[in-house]
Amino acid sequence: MCGIIGYIGRKPVERVLLTGLHRLEYRGYDSAGVATLNGSGGIHVRRVVGRVRDLERHLQQDPVPGTLGIAHTRWATHGRPSEINAHPHLDASGRLALVHNGIIENHDTIRTFLEGQGITFRSETDTEALVQLIGFLYEQTGDLVESVRRALRDVDGTYGIALLCRDAPETLIAARRGSPLLVGIGEDEYLVSSDGSAIIEHTSQVVYLQDGEIAVLGPAGLTITTTDAVPVEAEVSELEMTLEQIELAGFEHHMLKEIYEQPETLRDTMRGRIDAREGRVKLGGLVTCEREIARARRLLLAGCGTAWHAALVGEYLFEELARVPTEVEYASELRYRNPIIDEGTLALVISQSGETADTLAALREMKTKGATVLGVVNVVGSTIARETDAGVYLRVGPEIGVASTKAFTAQIAVLAMLAVDMGRRRHLSPWQTAEVLAELEAIPEKVEQALKLDEQVQDLARQLVDRDNWLYLGRGVNYPVALEGALKLKEISYIHAEGLPAAEMKHGPIALIDKGMPVVVVAPRDHMHDKIVSNIEEIRSRQGRVIAVTTEGDTRLRGLADAVLEVPATLPILSPLVTTIPLQLLAYHCARLRGHDVDKPRNLAKSVTVE
Ligand code: M6R
Repeated sequence: MCGIIGYIGRKPVERVLLTGLHRLEYRGYDSAGVATLNGSGGIHVRRVVGRVRDLERHLQQDPVPGTLGIAHTRWATHGRPSEINAHPHLDASGRLALVHNGIIENHDTIRTFLEGQGITFRSETDTEALVQLIGFLYEQTGDLVESVRRALRDVDGTYGIALLCRDAPETLIAARRGSPLLVGIGEDEYLVSSDGSAIIEHTSQVVYLQDGEIAVLGPAGLTITTTDAVPVEAEVSELEMTLEQIELAGFEHHMLKEIYEQPETLRDTMRGRIDAREGRVKLGGLVTCEREIARARRLLLAGCGTAWHAALVGEYLFEELARVPTEVEYASELRYRNPIIDEGTLALVISQSGETADTLAALREMKTKGATVLGVVNVVGSTIARETDAGVYLRVGPEIGVASTKAFTAQIAVLAMLAVDMGRRRHLSPWQTAEVLAELEAIPEKVEQALKLDEQVQDLARQLVDRDNWLYLGRGVNYPVALEGALKLKEISYIHAEGLPAAEMKHGPIALIDKGMPVVVVAPRDHMHDKIVSNIEEIRSRQGRVIAVTTEGDTRLRGLADAVLEVPATLPILSPLVTTIPLQLLAYHCARLRGHDVDKPRNLAKSVTVE
């Protein structure tokens, strides 16, 4: 949550910060602010409640000077969205300005201590406690970097920070623990950012700061130390991202663009990893854990939200293709349980951002208990990617829409490849393996076909958009698809929707069905088809409105459902990769018709780095 950016160089800083904030806005968007330093002329702060565009308007009236500055876009944790709670925050002397992403857990203790020293706080935020503490220590020691180090040693919780000081007009300081932060190295300039999208137009050379590291940036170069002042050698990496990937390219929203990118992203996810003719899968990122994969007797999968839904699909894939018992846990639950990890347990964490706090905590808990943990992650170099023992990247490029779409299908594709690989080592014959792999390779084209439903889905959305309660039903491997369809609708159109295994309906939720209630039934042709047709009959008897997602040519459902969305046939176990497409489109069009900000739904943020 929250996006931070900092810049020191020769360019007018206001534009650099604003452009960066626009790109980071998906991380949080209830208020925004900048602070710049113009030589020894003092710190210039502007903060507004609302979006980055509101800050931009404000700056048109009241610009900020300088070539050194920091900026922030907020997702409120402590203190309501207000100008006074917006970042940057200043210390009592007004010499320091700081932006922060994360949570200072012991802010109350720090505040009480500092108030006892006569310091008056202005905001309700946890962040102010940190900048006030640094300011207090700086007042005493006169050593800026050492004051930052000491303060960071004293705080509990997570932070990615950028800080500037009036007394050091050529220095930008950045540090992280638990919240992502990278340093971009340009020509005569440095940038600091929560993610690469904010700096890619300036440089692709980056250093990913590690937990407990502090970077000092200025004309003398880049110096990294730990909070204990131990020097660290900067490891420069190439940012795997292009400007084109983060622009709208003619689409009205990132979510729609990302839905349409799926044929291509799925090709990228599988490229070079499948050899259907030879019946082999090659997941380069997992070679160091070959032994553990071959010996696994039980799989434990964890993630949150959409990633958790992908894990549920994974459960079906692993049990059917690899015959390995699989359990799926919400990462947020697993971290506080006492999970049983024995020698044969292989753990897998799934995360688009690679920064989700609950998933990271679950990963650490499983590692503490001795598990080998594999990662299925999109963002290269993210914390989860770095902390797992080995992993597979999704390769779908930046996902900017808060509602996850292309990452979901890629997560399923990765899990399918791994399941086939594990199955081949166990009981799958070469020809069974080849059959699944050939079908996986054909999926991108089938997704392309499924996208042609867009117009039909739009019509449907127009008819249904005013209904406030929906059900989504599925069976077997399409039960998680129903959950995912309901989540998509909820999070961007604010329509209440519940996803269920279809047979569970009669155990309670059927009471909800009344005349015209939309019930989306994911019912491709498989061994459960007859059963789900019975469920459809039950809905019709209660005058619910059935929208069926089924396999092309399924004439039986044409006569039964109020609307039928036909997707190309594939192996039943791979069907989520196509059945999910019309559900993504349906959620998108409902949200758009309701006039919502599809890419930045209320109360949400893309990367959930708080508990
Ligand atoms: O970055 P992650 O995949 O770890 O994120 C997990 C969830 O926060 C995420 O999938 C969330 O549920 C999405 N907004 C769903 O569209």
